[in-house]
Amino acid sequence: MELGEREINLIERTFVVMGVVFAVVFSIFCLAIILWPAIDASAAEPPAKHTFVGVAVCSVCHKSDAKGNQFKHWQDSKHSHAYELLGTPAAKAVAVKAGLKGDPQKSPECLQCHVTALGVDKSFMGEKFHMEDGVQCESCHGAGGDFKTIKIMKDRKQAIANGLVIPDEKTCRGCHNEKAPTWDPKVGFNFKEMFKKIAHPLPKEKAPAEKK
Ligand code: HEC
Ligand code: HEC
Ligand code: HEC
Ligand code: HEC
Repeated sequence: MELGEREINLIERTFVVMGVVFAVVFSIFCLAIILWPAIDASAAEPPAKHTFVGVAVCSVCHKSDAKGNQFKHWQDSKHSHAYELLGTPAAKAVAVKAGLKGDPQKSPECLQCHVTALGVDKSFMGEKFHMEDGVQCESCHGAGGDFKTIKIMKDRKQAIANGLVIPDEKTCRGCHNEKAPTWDPKVGFNFKEMFKKIAHPLPKEKAPAEKK
């Protein structure tokens, strides 16, 4: 039986339409697969969580003079007194000027930059973690619960995989920024000079080889 031209045209068109529909559905499907991780990541909680152990724990291995005594450098820096500072008349004056009514030592508006791990769930705080210790090692180096063992600490790659942060200027600017009520745009934040004031290097022969 011969098919008329009309029927052939109709069959052809049906195939073309089906092809287009298939192509569209397939592209959407592929796009969804490609974009899925991105969509998922943006909606998800921050990645792996680690426990904040507190400066007392880091200091166990980081307070010998032979290895640069990072603990003492920190203790002598203003960061170790950042919480205490909020209890001073100077801080109260700053708070009043900023329009804050409450006690600065109890106000998240101030604590967010003057202590470590504000707002972190209690279940992620070690026994030796104390907010009163101010801006601690873990404010800059990340929560140490999973990298603090000697085996992991000795291996920079592993330490980083377990939460160690090698901080840079961006880390500092997380607090040293215009949201601080005492911020002076004329002074700004000079990373090089400010880092000199808190430097706490390992002795040369101990410094990791693969530096930036
Ligand atoms: C059990 C001992 C121990 C503890 C506890 C410890 N560390 Fe370490 N850490 C080391 C050792 C060992 C190194 C390697 C350098 C060295 O030999 O001194 C190191 C290296 C580091 C480095 C340099 C990493 C690099 O590659 O540049 C940082 C930063 C650091 N530790 C931070 C911390 C912080 C923060 C804590 C607390 C959360 C902590 N450490 C707790 C032993 C320890
Ligand atoms: C965005 C982070 C941030 C917030 C929020 C913040 N601070 Fe600070 N604060 C800093 C930093 C960083 C410094 C150190 C600045 C410097 O010395 O260069 C500082 C320094 C200070 C100082 C001493 C410096 C001076 O000029 O006397 C006082 C007092 C102070 N803050 C009080 C407060 C009070 C009170 C609040 C809450 C109303 C608050 N801060 C909120 C980051 C912050
Ligand atoms: C205010 C932020 C900050 C705090 C607080 C801080 N560090 Fe660091 N730390 C840094 C920066 C920045 C570096 C340099 C990173 C680099 O090598 O590029 C560093 C480097 C180090 C190094 C490696 C030094 C080297 O020569 O390679 C060790 C070890 C270290 N910190 C341990 C500690 C310990 C222990 C504490 C707490 C007692 C602490 N840090 C507190 C910011 C901080
Ligand atoms: C978690 C918030 C936070 C981070 C991150 C932070 N700082 Fe600070 N910094 C403070 C606060 C708060 C003070 C004021 C403490 C005080 O005066 O008692 C301060 C004070 C200082 C001071 C003393 C200023 C002075 O007048 O002597 C220096 C230097 C400094 N920070 C350098 C740095 C550097 C460098 C980094 C990054 C490697 C850094 N800070 C990261 C909160 C932070």
